[in-house]
Amino acid sequence: MKIWIKSGTVVDPVKGTSKKSDVIIERGKVAEILPPGVFKGERGKFREIDASGKLIVPGLVDMHTHLREPGYEYKETVATGGMAGVAGGFTALACMPNTMPPNDCRSVTEFILEQAKRADRCRIYPVAAITVGQKGERLTEFGDLKEAGAVALSDDGWPVTSSELMRRALEYAHYHGMAIISHSEDRSLSEGGAMHEGSVSTRIGLPGIPAASEEIMVYRDICLARLTGCPVHIAHVSTAGSVELIRRAKEEGLSVTAETAPHYFSMDHRAVVGYDTRTKVNPPLRTPEDVEAIKAGLAEGVIDAIATDHAPHSSLEKDLEFERAAFGMIGLETALPLTLELVRGKTLSLPDAIKKLTWNPASILGVPGGSLTIGSVADLAIIDPECEYVLREEDIQSKSKNSPFIGKALKGRNDLTIVGGRIVWERKT
Ligand code: DOR
Ligand code: ZN
Repeated sequence: MKIWIKSGTVVDPVKGTSKKSDVIIERGKVAEILPPGVFKGERGKFREIDASGKLIVPGLVDMHTHLREPGYEYKETVATGGMAGVAGGFTALACMPNTMPPNDCRSVTEFILEQAKRADRCRIYPVAAITVGQKGERLTEFGDLKEAGAVALSDDGWPVTSSELMRRALEYAHYHGMAIISHSEDRSLSEGGAMHEGSVSTRIGLPGIPAASEEIMVYRDICLARLTGCPVHIAHVSTAGSVELIRRAKEEGLSVTAETAPHYFSMDHRAVVGYDTRTKVNPPLRTPEDVEAIKAGLAEGVIDAIATDHAPHSSLEKDLEFERAAFGMIGLETALPLTLELVRGKTLSLPDAIKKLTWNPASILGVPGGSLTIGSVADLAIIDPECEYVLREEDIQSKSKNSPFIGKALKGRNDLTIVGGRIVWERKT
């Protein structure tokens, strides 16, 4: 069925504009974007959607999701993660390889894509492992993985400790036109840590993870980008020091890109005081000064993308003593309101905020999407930016509920998601 979205504000992150428009969708494509009142469609031939007061944005693209399949289906599957994604306004998810077995060979990549086809919700882009078994010893077959459908490479969850191996990975990936997404962590400093090392960890008696454990590896990766002339993407940037290193690398003209996750600009280490294991993430929530630096990094374009690092865990891994609990929080269904907070706080313009959730991550991954123009594939979301609500556990589509934002007041919500011209999510309440 053809779709006629009426009187919404179309946000074009590429042109940097937002304009009141109607959007017509036909045969899976954006057929028209025109001022309201101009289009005269025949009644009954269209599914008509009133979008007045709403934003029409390109479908969000998450370049860093954990879907847990194969191996940890009790936490999330491609189907449940895809559902959480479309509920949150995402039309494409790049899923990390730390599954069981890890996505380090063609058969696992193909399996994930098969499950994605079966789930038929949003686009799924597998990110394959850099090293076999994510053990940091031997490179995987990048060409083979690319042919199977992997779009990028990462050992996310684990660093590639050997600089020599990382150098080869950057060269080999560049040859294949695949991005390397670096989980920058010096394990010799972070091992045994449970939260950011600082005044709060000292006070509440938890072992710390110093900012330096991230910054040392960010600098190592920047040095390798300089040495090889190959691009590197830094995942989940959390510290002021990392922002400064990436700023300087960009000024130097190196091919370095970076992402952060909404929790790094929405919360700081004081949130851990009550030992709520849902606040335990890796890298950890940092200081208020780091939060400010992350926001400044986003505003200045030092940080290119906002990715969720959606990390579902069950109560088996989370209802434990803080030190024993797993790292990670879900994020697909809260990324949008938390990012819109940056717009309300004047850190980012609306088109810029949307660009960091769409065009920029799509470009870094080299996947389609991220723009909303006539003729483009109809992947889009209709957002109510003014909707105020308290996040309830029962509203969460993800199989896991490990979000510290449950019970918190949020503003801005995705109402409807379209993938390839088909409505895949519509909010009922
Ligand atoms: O908090 C995290 N959770 N950080 C990671 O690097 C991995 C992730 C996970 O897989 O749970
Ligand atoms: Zn991750």
